[in-house]
Amino acid sequence: MSRAGAVLPGEPVAIAPDVFWVGALDPDLRQFDIILRTANGTSYNAYAVRGSEGVAVIDTVKAEFAEDFFARLWSCCRPDEIRAIVLNHLEPDHTGALPALLKAAPQASLYLSYPALKMLKGLVKESLDEARIIPVDEDTRIDLGGRTLRFLHTPYLHWPDTQCTWVEEEGLLFSGDVFGCHFCDSRLFNDCVGDFRFSFDYYYQHIMRPFREHVLTALDLIEPLPLRLLAPAHGPILRDAPTSYVRRYRQLAAPLLANEAGGREKTLLVFYISAYGNTERMAQAVRNGAEGVEGVRVSMYDLAGGDPGPFVDLIEEADGLVFGSPTINGDAVKPVWDLLSSLTLVKVKGKFGGAFGSYGWSGEAVGLVEDRLRGLKLRVPRPGVKVKLIPTDDELESCAALGRELAEHLVGRVAPRHIDFTAPNALTA
Ligand code: FEO
Repeated sequence: MSRAGAVLPGEPVAIAPDVFWVGALDPDLRQFDIILRTANGTSYNAYAVRGSEGVAVIDTVKAEFAEDFFARLWSCCRPDEIRAIVLNHLEPDHTGALPALLKAAPQASLYLSYPALKMLKGLVKESLDEARIIPVDEDTRIDLGGRTLRFLHTPYLHWPDTQCTWVEEEGLLFSGDVFGCHFCDSRLFNDCVGDFRFSFDYYYQHIMRPFREHVLTALDLIEPLPLRLLAPAHGPILRDAPTSYVRRYRQLAAPLLANEAGGREKTLLVFYISAYGNTERMAQAVRNGAEGVEGVRVSMYDLAGGDPGPFVDLIEEADGLVFGSPTINGDAVKPVWDLLSSLTLVKVKGKFGGAFGSYGWSGEAVGLVEDRLRGLKLRVPRPGVKVKLIPTDDELESCAALGRELAEHLVGRVAPRHIDFTAPNALTA
């Protein structure tokens, strides 16, 4: 293939000496995994590495594209030459051709991470000789003869079993989904394809961002490598300035918003939306209660005046979240759900959360929001406050107590609760 040429059907593409791309192109895909939009389709990148002692296959392709994969693979090796099949993670878009490959190369061993062992049975339904399955870790070496494969433990990028495979002689990292993107261009290499920067960032934001802490840990492993070529599982092969993509991940994983509290204070965000001003008054009381706790910076936002995107960026950095919603037709209102449904993009597990709201008839919103917060693995340390229509002074004091108690949790000073079980609404106010 020329520098700017296109991949041809059935032809493998050399990406380094004796290292070949044997993947498949899927230019017509417009939605991946239901959640990702793919204006340019995608590619399923699989690779073959030839050493003097045999061949390793790194990942496979989605099942529908197995024919393309095998046509390319058998153009660069015979089935009986394959010694190793390496899976960087087990998601079906990279393991669809695995069962057929295992059959075609019965002498080959299957190398995968320890967490992947538990998933393998769900993937390969036919019985598999256990002697063929070899879990690997950072100390494992596969010597193909002049080509040595090593492994980087990079869990949750973006599956629990994710690892990257390093070819030390070539400075080549088979990075799985890491540094990948959904961008199909048959010119294949980053210095030949169209501008894919938006796809690269979009992929990070939707696939990697929820696991930011794991990204940072993985970058600590990857940055010291003498990297000359990055070969991800989707999108362009990054041969021109590969380390710039590593640096871009470092930038993307940095906080999007500078935290003016500078880590000296805990941050509590109060989000609300109000139909008649009642939930708004409750929000103000929650804020006032929280502001009385030293070491907590409180911010309040009306969801009627903002989009979820910037709020999600704020939430990623915050320590605590409180949501105020009226109940309309037995539910919290759409702007609240829009924001809550966006929180799968960031890590919120372990933050403190709470809810409050005014209602006319039944007041389900508070409980539903609390359930959602718990579902997102937030800690909801006390029941929220729901108020029928206009809040009384006592009810506003309950809101202030909610804010105060959440703030005390944030700074680790939790006042003991005194509950009068004879009082009406003892556990809801
Ligand atoms: Fe491209 Fe996580 O599969």
